[in-house]
Amino acid sequence: MGIAINYVIFARRRQKIEQHRKSLPIAAVEKKLLEEVSNNDILIIVGETGSGKTTQLPQYLFNGGFCRNGGTIGITQPRRVAAVTVAKRVAEECGVTLGQKVGYAVRFEDETSSSTRIKYMTDGLLLREALLDPYLSRYSVIIVDEAHERTVHTDVLLGLLKRVQKTRLQGAMVNSDHTKAENGRLFENENDHQSNSVLKNCRGKKLSPLKLIIMSASLDAQIFSEYFGGARAVHVQGRQYPVDMLYTHQPETDYLDAALITIFQIHLEEGPGDILVFLTGQEEIESIERLVQERLPKLPESKRKLSVVSIFASLPSEKQMKVFMPAPVGFRKVILATNIAETSVTIPGIKYVIDPGMVKVRTYDASTGIEPLIIVKTSKAQALQRSGRAGREGPGKCYRLYPENEFYKLKDSTTPEIKRCNLSNVILQLKALGIDDIIGFDFIEEPDRMAIIKSMELLFLLGALTDESKLSEPVGHQMARLPLDPIYSKSLIVASQLNCLEEMLIVVALLSVESIFYAPREKLEESRLALRSFSSAEGDHLTLLNVYRASDEFLEKSKLVSSKEKAEKNLRKWCKENFINSRSLKHARDIHSQIRRNVEQMGLRVSSCGDDMLPFHQCLAASFFLNAALKQPDGTYRALSSGLMVQIHPSSVLFRMKPECIIFDELVRTNKNYIRNVSRIDYLWLAELAPQFYALQE
Ligand code: CDP
Ligand code: MG
Repeated sequence: MGIAINYVIFARRRQKIEQHRKSLPIAAVEKKLLEEVSNNDILIIVGETGSGKTTQLPQYLFNGGFCRNGGTIGITQPRRVAAVTVAKRVAEECGVTLGQKVGYAVRFEDETSSSTRIKYMTDGLLLREALLDPYLSRYSVIIVDEAHERTVHTDVLLGLLKRVQKTRLQGAMVNSDHTKAENGRLFENENDHQSNSVLKNCRGKKLSPLKLIIMSASLDAQIFSEYFGGARAVHVQGRQYPVDMLYTHQPETDYLDAALITIFQIHLEEGPGDILVFLTGQEEIESIERLVQERLPKLPESKRKLSVVSIFASLPSEKQMKVFMPAPVGFRKVILATNIAETSVTIPGIKYVIDPGMVKVRTYDASTGIEPLIIVKTSKAQALQRSGRAGREGPGKCYRLYPENEFYKLKDSTTPEIKRCNLSNVILQLKALGIDDIIGFDFIEEPDRMAIIKSMELLFLLGALTDESKLSEPVGHQMARLPLDPIYSKSLIVASQLNCLEEMLIVVALLSVESIFYAPREKLEESRLALRSFSSAEGDHLTLLNVYRASDEFLEKSKLVSSKEKAEKNLRKWCKENFINSRSLKHARDIHSQIRRNVEQMGLRVSSCGDDMLPFHQCLAASFFLNAALKQPDGTYRALSSGLMVQIHPSSVLFRMKPECIIFDELVRTNKNYIRNVSRIDYLWLAELAPQFYALQE
């Protein structure tokens, strides 16, 4: 009986999925798209968000025979959440278990197997794969999705794929014509032997041609087409209903408060339909979520049917699918999202969009070498994408929380990331691929010379590059293999020499997630008190380590007396009592086990420094030396490498103690230059442990 009912539910669900697939705008052009892909080695597909590009095209290609001979279709996304959620959706549409025919791989997570034929992944991950498989030989088709986002990884990937495709076309000849093979090169501009050795390794392997598809939600395909020598571009017609635009009369001083008021205004005054709110990050999302939950009980009983869900980059993957589920019957859903919901993921059911007009971006100042995250106004293109989300299934409304004339002052489109980020990671990877001439690399848009030079300088100071600007052995190669920021990678390498890698792995994992401390404004004192039991007078790094170890100990003890699930639940309770964000902690635990595996595979020695934390702090000094700062008479600090005046963030355990010399992890620019995650070091260590930089200062 139960099985029969389940089967009916299952059959209905399948039927619904089939109907949904057929109703998507892209379904009407399936045949035509397959023809276009067959006829063109490079194809640019432009289509409105929600038309079905990301979920459908790979399935069409699979059914159209593009995986014959065991090839895989790879689809890159700028964001891991998009890669994960779309893969889950497509696995469901195909009626297969995730990780089999359909899978995903993102940094620190791999859900694929040898039978995976449709593989979603981040653009950064595919770049890493190229280190191991320079011809990306397992792929028959690579789709670079969301190319309009122009992340630095997408830009570099485009350049790399252009080369790989060319060589794979030649590669087909390698097998048939031996003399040409001797002259064939992957990296024709270089005269080093590294690229030749790459080719040698592949000789004898059958290299089939690679199909390349660039997908974008922006209507301007020209830049991609020109870059690929006049490649063909096709448009997929979308469906868009009218969206009423509403603006505020005055600029809002507090956009979070304005967003909160608007959520309730819509909920109380407007007809059915879900609300999508664009916020800038996890902290804002969590604070709005809390405020909504607090206000709900104050409403009359009948008006409380509001369910809040969220989606942001570091949300653990088991929670991500929740935003796609319909709200309970009679409830209205409020989705709190970062700009991830602009084009990367399409959530059904949205009728109202609230757009405060802000976005968090990484910036890079080549003159100081710092790379702060700042909150800025969106571009016009982003504002339009955001409002478009309200008109996908019927007429909708968009509430822009700024006056109308402000809209016209916005920049037309966002500056590509490659123009505003630190390039050291990219340079490291290109070098590891044997591409030494960074300035001569065929970028779709060239990065600033100054940024390239500064980033090379950083790599040189970290010991990753030789005097000839080649990747150093072993440090440079080790750093290129680790999926981390070069400074973090460096700290792990140094830690293995100073016998504190066990400690540093934990700290790097914790630094890689958004803050694990949760300090609601109204309970600030209480949360500080809770933190006190973990605090170390040496600084935030050791404090982080203490928290992690305490949580670990708690979990292990709990596991002795209860089931794994119960122990995890107890840990969440423990986190709450101690004002620790259990999501971030869980994420950090996952990252920790991944990077531990990475360093073990590389043969680094994982040992602990025990109770003597001196080597640990020396290791921090030896790797974060570019982020060292000295106290000034007025209690502020001067960052030694950039000369900037900075202040310790109030959340730091050293906020009041103010030691003479410190290193920090990041600089956050709000109205002040705040530094976060700060530790005390001995000034004399700098010259001793980082003479390459501090000796030069004399
Ligand atoms: O890539 P594009 O923006 O063109 O569309 P898509 O991501 O392929 O989404 C097509 C449709 O699938 C949309 O109507 C989404 O609402 C739906 N979808 C979904 O219901 N659940 C997901 N996890 C992903 C997509
Ligand atoms: Mg898409």
